[in-house]
Amino acid sequence: MPRQLFVTTALPYANGNFHIGHIMEYIQADIWVRFQRMQGHAVDFCCADDTHGAPIMIAADKVGKTPQQFVTDIAAGRKQYLDGFHISFDNWHSTDAPENHELARQIYRDLRDNADGSLIESKTIEQFFDPEKNMFLPDRFIKGECPKCHSKDQYGDNCEVCGAVYAPTDLINPFSALSGATPVLKHSEHFFFKLSDPRCVDFLSQWTQDGKLQPEVANKVKEWFSVRTNPDGSTSEGLGDWDISRDAPYFGIEIPDAPGKYFYVWLDAPIGYLASLKNLLKKRGQNYDAYMANPALEQYHFIGKDIVTFHTLFWPATLHFSGRKTPDNVFVHGFLTVNNGEKMSKSRGTGLDPLKYLDLGMNPEWLRYYLAAKLSARNEDIDFNADDFMARVNSDLIGKFVNIASRAAGFLTKRFEGKLGAVPADGAALLELLRLGHTVVERMYEEREYAKALRETMLLADKVNAYVDANKPWELAKQEGMDERLQGVCTVCIKAFRILTCYLKPVLPELALQVESFLNIAPLSFATITTLLPAGHVIGNYQHLMQRVTPEQLDALFGVKEDVAPVTQARAAPKKVATSSPAVVVSDPNAPGGEALAPVISIDDFAKIDLRIAKIVACEVVEGSSKLLRLTLDAGEKDADGNPTTRHVLSGIASAYQPQDLVGEFTVLVANLAPRKMKFGMSEGMVLAASHADEATQPGIYLLSPWPGAIPGMRIH
Ligand code: 2FM
Ligand code: ZN
Repeated sequence: MPRQLFVTTALPYANGNFHIGHIMEYIQADIWVRFQRMQGHAVDFCCADDTHGAPIMIAADKVGKTPQQFVTDIAAGRKQYLDGFHISFDNWHSTDAPENHELARQIYRDLRDNADGSLIESKTIEQFFDPEKNMFLPDRFIKGECPKCHSKDQYGDNCEVCGAVYAPTDLINPFSALSGATPVLKHSEHFFFKLSDPRCVDFLSQWTQDGKLQPEVANKVKEWFSVRTNPDGSTSEGLGDWDISRDAPYFGIEIPDAPGKYFYVWLDAPIGYLASLKNLLKKRGQNYDAYMANPALEQYHFIGKDIVTFHTLFWPATLHFSGRKTPDNVFVHGFLTVNNGEKMSKSRGTGLDPLKYLDLGMNPEWLRYYLAAKLSARNEDIDFNADDFMARVNSDLIGKFVNIASRAAGFLTKRFEGKLGAVPADGAALLELLRLGHTVVERMYEEREYAKALRETMLLADKVNAYVDANKPWELAKQEGMDERLQGVCTVCIKAFRILTCYLKPVLPELALQVESFLNIAPLSFATITTLLPAGHVIGNYQHLMQRVTPEQLDALFGVKEDVAPVTQARAAPKKVATSSPAVVVSDPNAPGGEALAPVISIDDFAKIDLRIAKIVACEVVEGSSKLLRLTLDAGEKDADGNPTTRHVLSGIASAYQPQDLVGEFTVLVANLAPRKMKFGMSEGMVLAASHADEATQPGIYLLSPWPGAIPGMRIH
C-alpha cells in the first residue's frame, strides 16, 4: 500500500547562510525521502525560513534593512545550496508568509477556546528591560549562567550545553548582550501555554514514552517531567507553563485580540512546517484540510538534538490541544564536527564551508556518500575527517563500486555491440545473493541506519569484485574461443552493477541517473530490482561516472598551509612581488602601520568574524620552529557534558614573547576560524597581534589584550 508521508527538516533561522550542519540534516532527510519515493510512496518534503524573532529584527536594523527585506535577501541565497547538494524539497517557504500568520493565529484561538477549558492564560510577569537601549530584552540578548548546569554565557531561552529550557529571569548573573548593562525587571502582560495543566502532562507523558521516539531521546525528555527550575531558583516537579508572547517591538505575528503582543518565534516556527505544506498544496490545487484529515497521513520531522524539547513537548501539545494531528515521529540527529573541531553550532558554523565545497567543483555526491556512511538512527555526533573522507570515497565508492562498471562495460560495447549475454551458473548464484540483499538494505534505509545500508552494499560489491578477479575478463578477452564466457562474465558484472546502483540510489541520485541512461533502463526502484535485464538488452557506451577526490581539493577546501602560522592573517591587500609563495608584503612608508587600508567591508562581513576573549592557560615553544609558540586558550567553552574545554593555537609570536610571560594573560581569539592543519600540528583559531609592515626597520609584535574585567568567552563587537 502506498503511504502518504509529510516530511520536514528544521526551519533554519533566516539570519545567515547555511553551514555544513544544515546541509548534513538536509542530506539525512533527503536520503530517507528519496528512499520512500523509490518505494512508491507519496512524499511531500517541505521546509521554510524561520524568519521571526528579535535577533533577526535587530540584525536587519543593523544593516539598514526592514526585517522583511532582510529575510527575503537570505531566502534568495538558499537555492544554490539545495540544488548543489541535490536536496529534493518539494517546497521552500517562509514563516512570515500569509499561510503561517493565518495558521498560527487560528491554532492560538483553538488553544484558547479549547472546549475542555482554555490552555492559554495571561499573567503579568516581570521581564528584563535594558535601561540603556530602552526596550524589553529578547531572550537571545540576555546572557548569563544556566540555572541547571551552571554553564556560563548561555542565552536567555535555553542552554546550548545541557539543553535546559527556562525563562530569561532564571539566568544567574544576567547581562544585556546589546549594551552590556545589567537589565532591570519591569512588568508586562504575557500569554502562557498551560503545559502544567494535567491534561498536557498526561498527554505528553504518553506521547513521548509510547516507544516511537529514539530511546535516548525519550530518556532525555523524561527528565523534563520530573524536575523543573523555578524563577526563584527552587525546583519543582513537572512541566512549567510556556511563555508564548513577546512585546512590541518584535518581528513576528500579532496575537489575536492583543494589540502590541506577538507570538514568541518558537510558537510560530514549527507551524511554518504546516504553512509550507499548505502553500505547496495550494500551488497544486489540493485542499489542505482534506489532506490533513487523511487518517493514513504520516508526519515526520528531522531535527538536531538541540531542539528536542520544542519538538517533543511544545509542538505535539500545540497540535493536540488545538485539535490537530500530531507528528508520527521526530527523528533526532547529533552534531557534526569537522576534523575533530568544534561543534557546528548555529551561531558559529565553521570548518567546512558548503558553498566553497561546491565552488571548488567537488562532487556533492562524495559528501552525501560520506555522511551517509557515518549516519545511524541514533543521535550521536559524527565527525567529518578529511583523510577518512578521501579514503571512503576513493576506495569504497570508486574503487569498489564504480570500477565494476568500468571493468566490464568496455568489453561488451567493443566485442558484443553492447549486448548482454546469458548468465553463467556461477554468476547466477552471485546475482541471487545480491538480490537477496535488498531486504536488509531496505530495512536499513527505512530505519535511517544508512551506515549499515552502505556497509551491506559494499560487502556485496566486494563479492562482485572477487568474481571479476577470479574470472579476469581482460585475460578471457585475449583467449581464443572464450567469447561466450567473456560476454557472460561481463553480463554478470553489469547486472550486479545495476542492483548495487539501486541500493545506492537514495544517496547518489545523480550518479544513478547517469547509470540508468548508460544502461538504457527505466528508473531503478527496489520493487523492480528482482527482475533481471534480459539477454540481448543493449547498454550504452560507458562514460566515466565519477572522479576521485584529490588531496589538493581538500587542501583548498580547508585552506591548509604547511608553513608558518600568521599572527594577523588579515594583513591588508598585500602586494605580491613574486608569484611563488610566501607572498612578500611591500611596505608603504606613507600608509598607517606601513600598509594601505584594506577595502571597505560591510557590518555583515565584520559580523562573520567571531572574536572572543581568551585566557592563555599554557604556552610552550614549538620544537623545530623558531617562530611559533603553542598557546592553550580558555575561551569559556565547554563540551557537551559541561566540562570546560581549551583550544590549541599556533602563533608566530616566538620572537616577541617568552612562553612563561604569557601564561595567565588575556588576549583576543578569532574563534570561528576554520581549524588549520600546519606542519607543527593543528591550530584551532588565531590570536590577534599588531606589527608594522616594515619588519626590518620597525620590528616588534604586540599581542592584543583587553582591559581588566573582560572574562574568557566574551564576544568582541
Ligand atoms: O534552531 C533553529 O535553527 C530553529 N530555527 C529551528 C526551528 S525548527 C521549527 F520549529 F521551525
Ligand atoms: Zn545548562
